[in-house]
Amino acid sequence: MNLDLTSGQSLISEVVNMVNDEVRGDQEVIVCPPSVLVYSIAQLAKSNPKVSVGAQNSHEAESGAYTGETSVAQIKSVGAEYVILGHSERRQYFGETNALLAKKTDAVLKHGLKPIFCIGETLEERNQNIHFQLIKDQLAEGVFHLSVEEFANVVLAYEPVWAIGTGVTASPEQAQEVHEFIRKEIAAKYGEEAAESTSILYGGSCNPKNAADLFAQKDIDGGLIGGASLKSRDFVDIIKTFNK
Ligand code: PGA
Repeated sequence: MNLDLTSGQSLISEVVNMVNDEVRGDQEVIVCPPSVLVYSIAQLAKSNPKVSVGAQNSHEAESGAYTGETSVAQIKSVGAEYVILGHSERRQYFGETNALLAKKTDAVLKHGLKPIFCIGETLEERNQNIHFQLIKDQLAEGVFHLSVEEFANVVLAYEPVWAIGTGVTASPEQAQEVHEFIRKEIAAKYGEEAAESTSILYGGSCNPKNAADLFAQKDIDGGLIGGASLKSRDFVDIIKTFNK
C-alpha cells in the first residue's frame, strides 16, 4: 500500500525505460501495484514487452455482493496477467487460510491468469523447527489440489516472514535449503519435469547487494521484491544481477 497514481506512474515509467537489453531475454519482470493502480500501470507497461503486470490480491468469487473486493475478471480486464496470493501480510492481517487460498488459486487459473503463490514460516515456527512441515502443508492445502497442467501456471514465492520488510535476509544457504525442499515436494507430487520448470522466487529484504548471492543458488529462480522495488534504480539493479 505504497505510492499513489502520480508517483506510481513515475516509478513504472522509469522501470520500463531501464529494463532494456541488459536484462536477459528469458527473464520476466512483473510489477504488482495495488489494484486501484493496475489499469494505469498496465497502460504504461505496455511499451516494454519484458514488463508485465500483476495484482497483489483478488477475491475468490466470480462476482457479486462483496463490497470493496476485486474479482479476478476485473483485474484481468484492466491488464493484469498475474496475481500474488497468500502474501504473509494477507495471511497475518486478513486471516487468509490455505483453504481460502486454494479457492483463490482456482479463480485466478480459471481466468487464465497466473498465481504467484507465497509460502513461508515465521521466526517462531523456524525456531521450533516446524518450518518444513509448515511449508509442506501450505503447498498441500494451497496448490497441490491442482492438476499437473494447472500447476504449470503457478509461480511459487518462498518468503520467510521474519525476512519481509525487516532488513534481515535469509542467508543464501538458508533460502536454498528451503527452495530445494519445495522443489522436491513438487517432484514428489507432479514429477521431476514439473519441478524443474516451476519458478520458485525468494522474497524478503532482497536488495542490490544481496541479490546476486541469492540468485546464484541452484533452486532460486528469481525474487519477489518489496521495499527495494519502490526505487527504480534498486529494482532494476536487482533484476540485472540475475544472470544464470
Ligand atoms: P521486502 O518485501 O523485500 O521489503 O522484504 C518482500 C515482500 O513484501 O514480499
